[in-house]
Amino acid sequence: MEKALFREIDQGHALQKGGGPQARFWLEWSISELDREIRGQPGSSTLECDNSQVPDSTPPRSAVLRRSFRKDFPAAVRGEGVYLWDAANKKYLDFSGSAAVNFIGHGVQKISAAMAAQAAKLEFVHTSQFTTPVAEEYARELLAFAGENFRGGAVYFTSGGSESIETALKLARQYQVEIGESRRYQILSRQQSYHGSTLGALSVSGNQRRREIYLPMVREFAHVGMPYCYRCAFDCTDSCRNCGQQYAAELDHAIEATNGEAAAFIFEPLSGATLGAVVPPPGYLQSVAEICRRRGVLLIADEVMTGMGRTGRTFAVEHWRGQNLDEKNESGKNGDEENGSEKNTSGAGSNLSPDILVTAKGLSSGYAPLGAVIASKKLIDAIATGSGAFLHGFTYNAHPVSLAAGRAVLQHLQSSNLIAAADSSVAGTAAAQLKHALESLHDNDRNDNDRSGSVIGDVRGLGLLWAVEFVADQSSKRPFPAELNFAGRVAAAAMTRGLLVYPMQGCVDGTSGDHLLLAPPAVITKEEITWSVTQLRAAVQEAAQQAASSLR
Ligand SMILES: Cc1ncc(COP(=O)(O)O)c(C=O)c1O
Repeated sequence: MEKALFREIDQGHALQKGGGPQARFWLEWSISELDREIRGQPGSSTLECDNSQVPDSTPPRSAVLRRSFRKDFPAAVRGEGVYLWDAANKKYLDFSGSAAVNFIGHGVQKISAAMAAQAAKLEFVHTSQFTTPVAEEYARELLAFAGENFRGGAVYFTSGGSESIETALKLARQYQVEIGESRRYQILSRQQSYHGSTLGALSVSGNQRRREIYLPMVREFAHVGMPYCYRCAFDCTDSCRNCGQQYAAELDHAIEATNGEAAAFIFEPLSGATLGAVVPPPGYLQSVAEICRRRGVLLIADEVMTGMGRTGRTFAVEHWRGQNLDEKNESGKNGDEENGSEKNTSGAGSNLSPDILVTAKGLSSGYAPLGAVIASKKLIDAIATGSGAFLHGFTYNAHPVSLAAGRAVLQHLQSSNLIAAADSSVAGTAAAQLKHALESLHDNDRNDNDRSGSVIGDVRGLGLLWAVEFVADQSSKRPFPAELNFAGRVAAAAMTRGLLVYPMQGCVDGTSGDHLLLAPPAVITKEEITWSVTQLRAAVQEAAQQAASSLR
C-alpha cells in the first residue's frame, strides 16, 4: 500500500497540478494528509477517502463545519497562563501557543475587561462613516512600537493574517500605480512559505498541501528558493555562510525576468509553519532588501507569526536591521558556528527596512480576531497626495472591540517585559531556557529505553519560536515516509500526555519531512519548560517505536 501511495503521489505531481481530472486526486490526498496531520494516525489509501460515507465509528456530526470529519475534537472551556482545560477537565500545557498565536498567556483579565468596556461604550461603527478614539490611539501606539522606519506611516487594521496579506498586496499595487509605475503588479515570493488561506495570499504562498487544489483559481507569480540550512540546495559545508548570497541572486534574476512588472516581494523573516522556524543565513535578508530597493520593488515582511515580540524583538526584522553582518544567528543546529563571527561580503551596510509590515496572531494574542498592516510614510504619502483614497475595505476593519483587545495586549506585553522574556540570546530568559531544553533533545540514546534522540534531525529557531525536525536516519537526513505521519504521531502522543504542539509535514519537498513548531506563551516558567520537554521526549520515543514497528 505504501508503494502504491507513493506511485499515486508521483503521478499526481507529474501531471498538471490542480486542474482537470487530477483535482479530485489532490483533494483526496490533501484531506487524507490533513486528517493524518490532525489525528496522528496513518491514513488509508488516498483514493479510499470519501466524505459522503463517514464511517460509523465517527462521532455524531457537528453543526460546525470543523477542520476534519474524522476527528473528535475535545471542547476547550477555560484557559489560564500556559494552560488550557477541556470540558472533561483535562489540563493541557499550550507549548505551541495554539498556532503561535498566544504570547501573553491565557485568561489575562485586563484584556477581557478592556474588550467588555469598549463593547459597552461602542461596539461598532463603519469605517466609511467614522473613525474611533481606540483606532486613532492604538494606531499611533503601534506605529511607535514598529519603530523609526514607520514614523509618519499609517496602520490598516483587519480581522487576521490572511486579510492583512490581501491588504498588503493591494497596497503595494496601488502604490506602484500612484507613482506612475502601473506596469508593476507581480508579487514575488518564496517556495515553502505560507502567507494565508485567501486566494491572493495562497497565490504567494508556497505551502504545497494548502495550495494544490486551488491553483487553477489563483494568479501565479515567481516563487524563489528559500535558504534552509539543514537541507541547503547548494550542499554547502559552511552553515550557509555564503549561500545566502546565492539565494538572494535568485531573487534578483526573478525580478529581472518580470520585465519591469514586479511590484513587491513578500517574505517571512523567520519561516513559519511550513519549514518550521528556519533562521536565514548571515547577510541574506540585507541583500534581499538591497536588491528590492535597487529595482524599485517594495519589501513586504510577513510577521503574522513572528511579530509582536515572539522572537525577542518587537518584530523579527529588527534582528537584521542596521546590523553588521557579523550578525546573530541562533539556529540551534549550527550553534556558535553560525553566530557569525565571520563577515559576509555582499550586502554589507544594507539595512533591512521593509516598506510594509504585516502582523496578526500575537497582535491580539488570540483574545480577538485582529491583524494589522503597517505601511511606511513613503507609501502613505503617495496615496495621500495622489488619488487620496486606498481602494480597499472590509466591513469589520478596525473593529473597536478587537482594537481594544489589541491595545490592551500591547500595553500588557510592554508593562510585563514579555519581549525581553522572549529573547533567547539573554541567559535566564524563558526563551534561553527553551532553547537549551530543546537542544537537549539531540542527546542520543540517553539510556537503552530512550532512543528519542536518534530521530531528531534538527532543532532550530529564535526567541520563542522553535522547530524540531525528525528524520528516519540522522546521517543521510532521510525523512520518514510521509504516510507514516511521524510529526502527527508525536503530537498525538504529546496531547495524550497533556502537551499541545503544532505538527507539520512537507518541509523536505512539500510532501515529506516532519517537524513540530513550538511557540509557548512568554509567561512559561523554567519548570513548565522542563516538564514539557520531558513529555515531548517521551512522545517522540513512543512515535519512534511505532515507526520502527511499522517500517519493519
Ligand atoms: C506567516 C503567516 N502569514 C499569514 C498567515 C495567515 O494568517 P491567518 O490564519 O490569521 O489568516 C499565517 C497563519 O498561520 C502565517 O503564519
